[in-house]
Amino acid sequence: MTTTWILNGLTIDPKTGQTVKKHLKLDNGLVAEWLDGSASPDVGGAETIDAEGKLISPGLIDMHVHLREPGFEHKETIATGTASAAKGGFTTIACMPNTRPVIDTPETVKLVLDKAEAACGVRVLPYAAITKNELGRDLTDFEALKDAGAIGFTDDGVGVQDAQMMKNAMTLAKSIDMPIIAHCEDDSLVVGAAVSEGAFAKKHGLKGIPNESEAIHVGRDILLSEATGVHYHVCHVSTEQSIRLIKLGKSIGVNVTAEVCPHHLLLSDEDIPDSMDANWKMNPPLRTPRDVEACIGALEDGTIDIIVTDHAPHSEEEKAKGMERAPFGIVGFETAFPLLYTKFVKTGRWTLGFLLSRMTSDPARVFGLNTGSLEVGSPADITLIDLDSEREVDPASFLTKGRNTPFTGWKLSGWPTLTIVAGQTVWSEEQGILKSSEE
Ligand code: DOR
Ligand code: ZN
Ligand code: ZN
Repeated sequence: MTTTWILNGLTIDPKTGQTVKKHLKLDNGLVAEWLDGSASPDVGGAETIDAEGKLISPGLIDMHVHLREPGFEHKETIATGTASAAKGGFTTIACMPNTRPVIDTPETVKLVLDKAEAACGVRVLPYAAITKNELGRDLTDFEALKDAGAIGFTDDGVGVQDAQMMKNAMTLAKSIDMPIIAHCEDDSLVVGAAVSEGAFAKKHGLKGIPNESEAIHVGRDILLSEATGVHYHVCHVSTEQSIRLIKLGKSIGVNVTAEVCPHHLLLSDEDIPDSMDANWKMNPPLRTPRDVEACIGALEDGTIDIIVTDHAPHSEEEKAKGMERAPFGIVGFETAFPLLYTKFVKTGRWTLGFLLSRMTSDPARVFGLNTGSLEVGSPADITLIDLDSEREVDPASFLTKGRNTPFTGWKLSGWPTLTIVAGQTVWSEEQGILKSSEE
C-alpha cells in the first residue's frame, strides 16, 4: 500500500467559506482520510508532503485544450502540453481533434492515449471529430471512436456549417449517450476577419467578426439539441447574444451546457494594443466590454457552467506574421488559475470556493468524471496552490512550447506549487516534471 500524507495544508470550510488547516492522507491513489490541523497524524513510514500555507485543491480540470500532436509538433507535443498542464495545476485535460491527421479514426484516438500514457501523468481525455477531417461533409464512426476512448465529438477550430449534418451528428451521439461539443461560428458571417467587429476594428480599418456569427450557431444547435435530446456543450462562449440563448435553452429544459475562457472574462477588444500584436488574436475574438461583463455574469449565475483555457499554442514565427495573417489562439494552462484568482477572488468579486468549483467539480459534473472532488474514496488528483506570493507572467518560464500570451508581465498570485495525479506527484515547483514512478 502506497501512503502519502499532505501535512498542514489549507482547505475551504464549506460552512464558513474560510480556509482551515488540515492534514490529508492518500492511500493507493485515493483520498483516504482528512484530519484537523490540530491533530498529529501518525505517519509511520509514509511519504510526507509539507503543504504549510498552501491550499489543497482538487486537481484542476480543463475540458478544452489543443495538444497539437500528431502533426504540429513544432507548436506542442503531448509531452510538453501535459507538462504545461501539470505546472498550471491541471490533472485532467480534454484535447481537441484538430491535429494532422485529424483525430477522426480509432487509431488516432489510440495514438493520443498511448502518447499520453507515456507522458508526465496528467490524465488526457481525447475528443474525436464530428466530421471526417473536420470538413463538414461526412460523419465519423462515432461508435468505433467511443470504443477507442473518445469522450465526445467536436469539430473545434471550425463550426459545423450544415444544420442537417449537425442534427444527424446529434441524433447519432444521443443514441450512444455521448455529448456534442461545438465551436460555434457561421462562416458566411465571418468573411476572413481577425478581430471582432468593435472599437479596435473600426480604429484600424479592419474587417470585423460579428457577434451573430457565434450566436446563430448557438441558437440553431439549442433547437437541434431540444429535438434530439443530446447533451450539447457550447465551446468558448464570448457574446451576450449567445448567453441569452443558452439561458433560454436551460430555462426550457434543453440539455445544454457551456464554457468560457479566462481571456473572455478579462479582456475586451478595447485592450488590444495598437501595435497589433497577434498574441491578442484568438477565435472567438475579444469582444466588447459589455460582452465581457455578460460572460462574467453568466458564469456567476450558472448559465455558463465551467471555465476552460482553450490552450492553443503556436510558434513564435507563426505569431510574428501580424494580426491579419497569424493563426488564432493563445496558450492558457500556466496562467489560468493565477489570473482568475488574482482578478476575481483577491478583488472580492468571487469566493475562492466559487472559482474552484468552476474549474473542478463543475467540469466533472458536466462531463460525468469521477474526479474534481476530494471526498474520501475519490481519486487523489490534487493541486497545492500558493495563494500569497506574487510573480510576473514570464513566457520564457513556460513548459508549453507556446509563448503566445497577451498576459506577459501581469503581476499575479495563486501559483500552483505541486500537482498530484492518482496519488503520484507529477510536477513540483522544486523538482519540475517527475517521471511517472511505477516501481
Ligand atoms: O483561438 C483558437 N485557436 N480558436 C480555435 O477555434 C482554434 C484554436 C487553434 O486550434 O489554434
Ligand atoms: Zn474553438
Ligand atoms: Zn479550441
